[in-house]
Amino acid sequence: MKFFVDTADIDEIRELAETGLLDGVTTNPSLVAKTGRHFRDALADICAAVDGPVSAEVAATDFDGMMAEAEVLAGIADNVVIKVPLTWDGLKACRALSIQGRRVNVTLCFSANQALLAAKAGATYISPFIGRLDDIGADGIDLIAEIRTIYDNYDALTTEVLAASIRTPVSVKQVALAGADVATIPPGVLKALVKHPLTDIGLERFLADWKATGQTIV
Ligand code: G3P
Repeated sequence: MKFFVDTADIDEIRELAETGLLDGVTTNPSLVAKTGRHFRDALADICAAVDGPVSAEVAATDFDGMMAEAEVLAGIADNVVIKVPLTWDGLKACRALSIQGRRVNVTLCFSANQALLAAKAGATYISPFIGRLDDIGADGIDLIAEIRTIYDNYDALTTEVLAASIRTPVSVKQVALAGADVATIPPGVLKALVKHPLTDIGLERFLADWKATGQTIV
């Protein structure tokens, strides 16, 4: 499973990119708003900081507006992926952009049928929001599993399942078990994946025992 980081904060992105474990970045208008920066400037910095795909979302809601914005966003860097909402106009834009050879992330997916439509429209990625489904008492992981099954039923559906709206380390494990191709994860959750108290205790004991030997390796 690929790891994308879900943020527009360039410092967080640079720090995580240094691990070599970051496969890409997703942004959205809310995340851009948090930075206080102009979107085009922030996007250019993010695209320069990572080798992988960087999702940049259109703000227009009509087909023509989305296409015009997509042109500007795609011009910023080669690794820009155009993100469009799961609406009829978004699906039309997805289809048109994919025919042009652009990669598209269809966002705000909350049902298997929506994911089926996005795949038929040529989406590179579909973004089911698992946390927001859990918020209303539905089951986000079930949706990931359903989409995985549907896409696997048809060779022609090559869209990657990008699990989004992840808020906890447990959700990362769950989407991996359900067969997501990508998890986009907030920086804090991504950093928390490495933590286990038994790792810390175990390391402390090894270091104490090693010190007692008086040896060095180099
Ligand atoms: O990738 C989508 C994500 O940013 C939404 O997360 O926590 O606002 O539902 P959340």
